[in-house]
Amino acid sequence: MNAGILGVGKYLPERIVTNVDLEKIMDTSDEWIRTRTGIEERRLAGDDIDTSDMAYHASVAAIEQSGVKPEEIDLILVATVTPDQSFPTVSCMLQERLGATKAAAMDISAACAGFMYGLATAQQFINNKAYKHILIVGVEKLSKITNWEDRNTAVLFGDGAGAVLMGPVSDGKGLLAFELGADGSGGKHLYKDMENGTLVMNGREVFKFAVRQMGDTCIRVLEKAGLDKTDVDYLIPHQANLRIMEAARQRLELPPEKMSHTIRKYGNNSAASIPIALAEELEAGKIKDNDVIVMVGFGGGLTWGGIALRWGV
Ligand code: COA
Repeated sequence: MNAGILGVGKYLPERIVTNVDLEKIMDTSDEWIRTRTGIEERRLAGDDIDTSDMAYHASVAAIEQSGVKPEEIDLILVATVTPDQSFPTVSCMLQERLGATKAAAMDISAACAGFMYGLATAQQFINNKAYKHILIVGVEKLSKITNWEDRNTAVLFGDGAGAVLMGPVSDGKGLLAFELGADGSGGKHLYKDMENGTLVMNGREVFKFAVRQMGDTCIRVLEKAGLDKTDVDYLIPHQANLRIMEAARQRLELPPEKMSHTIRKYGNNSAASIPIALAEELEAGKIKDNDVIVMVGFGGGLTWGGIALRWGV
């Protein structure tokens, strides 16, 4: 018995903000954003939708797909750096709204790598049989902490949520290996300024870190799983910058069609980007039973995480 994914869901706010829309409010251009990042548009949530609302909608979809009842969920893990408030946590809000009466609940704060931390944490509880069903959500309302006067960061991010319901699957399927890591000395390159409450980033430093870390983590996680890059069927990287994602894809020598690419329409959804991409690939029928999938992310902290898994139950 091993921990695997039983259901997946996503939620994206309806409002689309294109690069051309941003040209009207700041000194930027569609051409600059597209060529430097791969982003063409993003979704931004209005005042009436907070982080817990997006988390709820994605969770309902994941739970429905899994066939697990809310009252059978043992633990809720929510990866976010943009909670509705510092406490109660988004996970506790979800616990009530979903009717997951039996579930323990906690938020995970590992920025854009948070969903990787969530999956790896959930696997431990399931594999040691402490818990059977765990809901893991990656969700961000980054527009709440975006500095709209800073073109270096404002063009990059979007709001959204992705969720998975994890539980026991048959041997050989599910999570095969993970790697989590952190380098606190790089915290100064990406953080929330507590004075004005907005995100600050040294793009070049984060870029260098990300290119190195994404590729290295993919290779190490495959080694831990006893696999080779030729075994990989699909790469789901954190959608931060197409050039960073491409570097990881090239490290694995995968053709372009074997990598998720939601950044074009959603931008960087931080902790939500990997589960949103997973949900989209499943909807598009691109992931098949027994496929080997590598997920990899990095973010503020600095943090990183990678997972190798074999799809199926
Ligand atoms: N529109 C137009 N010009 C912009 C701009 C924008 N939105 N943002 C920055 N620029 C300008 C800069 O001011 C700079 O101008 P200068 O040379 O006159 O000073 C120029 O573009 C080039 O900046 P540079 O930093 O060299 O660009 P880059 O190729 O490194 O791309 C990022 C910038 C932010 C896209 C890139 O560094 C990046 O993606 N870093 C990683 C960020 C990330 O992944 N963050 C999320 C972590 S989870």
